Amino acid sequence: MSKQVPEKVDMEKIVSLCRRRGFIFPSSEIYGGLSSCWDYGPLGVELKQNVKQAWWRAVVQERDDMVGLDAGILMHPQVWKASGHLEGFTDPLVECKSCHLRWRVDDLKDNKCPSCGGEVTEPRLFNLMFKTFMGPIEEQASVVYLRPETAQGIFVNFQNVLNTTRKRLPFGIAQMGKAFRNEITTGNFIFRSREFEQMEIEFFVTPETDQEWFNYWTTERLNWYVNLGIKRENLRLRQHTKGELAHYARECYDIDYLFPMGWAELEGIANRGDFDLVQHSSFSGKSLDYFDEETKEHIIPHIIEPSAGVDRSVLAFLCDAYDEEIAEGETRALLHLHPSLAPIKVAVLPLSRRERLVQAANQIYADLRQCWMVQYDDAQSIGRRYRRQDEIGTPFCVTVDFQSLEDEQVTIRERDTMNQIRIPISELKTTLQAKLEGEDLFVLPPGGSIWKGGESG
Ligand code: GAP
Repeated sequence: MSKQVPEKVDMEKIVSLCRRRGFIFPSSEIYGGLSSCWDYGPLGVELKQNVKQAWWRAVVQERDDMVGLDAGILMHPQVWKASGHLEGFTDPLVECKSCHLRWRVDDLKDNKCPSCGGEVTEPRLFNLMFKTFMGPIEEQASVVYLRPETAQGIFVNFQNVLNTTRKRLPFGIAQMGKAFRNEITTGNFIFRSREFEQMEIEFFVTPETDQEWFNYWTTERLNWYVNLGIKRENLRLRQHTKGELAHYARECYDIDYLFPMGWAELEGIANRGDFDLVQHSSFSGKSLDYFDEETKEHIIPHIIEPSAGVDRSVLAFLCDAYDEEIAEGETRALLHLHPSLAPIKVAVLPLSRRERLVQAANQIYADLRQCWMVQYDDAQSIGRRYRRQDEIGTPFCVTVDFQSLEDEQVTIRERDTMNQIRIPISELKTTLQAKLEGEDLFVLPPGGSIWKGGESG
């Protein structure tokens, strides 16, 4: 095997793979697509779900200082006044006087239109929130917004969660869900879209411990990506300059990933101080403070916010996993996805379509499906089928051959090394479980052996 891909994969390869294999399609494609909106296909939905599950597991399930929430996308319009989004969630926008394309000011080249070089209008502030109307009458009084971040649903539920869970500081509330931004400049596939998903944590702490927790979460979140297989050298921390800080933030670090188009934000970790609870308390007239049993004082907790994008994480995992190498004289494209993220965990491949073999393979397929997402593939040569699974990141293929009918054994082939072992069907589930959890392929179950039969089976 020899390496073929350059260190940095180009975006077109990823877009083409996603389109061809059913990870991601342009939205409403039969009508020509909808700018910067995307649909996740059969494999994409699994990958995205796995990313969200891995996040939820790490930040909610495995911690006793975190609880989950699923707030609505539509919220009381006052929320956006209090949060500062109505006033401050804007980009300066200009229009080209010749070609009438619109641009963000920071996209201009020498103050000229980047498309035709024409003169542009004076900038005006453009609010990025999508507006709609609640109820049948389209009037100012019924305006509501599609949330531009999931965070606000957490702040307005702070007292509800506190009262119902009896959590004490420090503790956090985690939420995943859709957010919408009427972005002026979009592009780079799913990197910046108008409808996307976020995975956000609001971690409430005593004011004097905010720096400590800020540092903690920065490290914790960086490690999450590394533990799920992203190469450390493709991640960096970047501190926001004073001018870049969002209106609510005292300090912010971005976790940047080296995407094909260059370094760009994957997740932001912000110290929001007491901004949000003070604002919502003042606009709602409801107290959002916290009674500290030890000091017998009422305090406003400070908030550390690790805010990640689901779609950007999906893109980063895909880019980092993509690989090409020469194997058996031809190019093999593969995704080295972490087993917990791989859309399909196991493929069951009968060596031929002969009835007795199909029957045995189908039985195995039905059995494994009880545990994981499994694919059954009997079309074309076994080599082709292995390549198809490599390209979508399936960690293991189980091959059922004629000998299986005699000795009740099957081969397991590993995606990354292409090594194979042969094991009793009775050991298949537990063996696959162990391998998916990271056990070395050559640790064999009773009755197992290393298979020297080669790729073509
Ligand atoms: N509550 C804080 C907040 O929303 P942000 O930096 O604006 O902060 C957090 O967004 C994350 O959401 C980003 O790091 C990115 O991963 C994702 N994100 C933001 N805008 C996006 C867009 N237009 N398309 C895809 N993901 C986006």
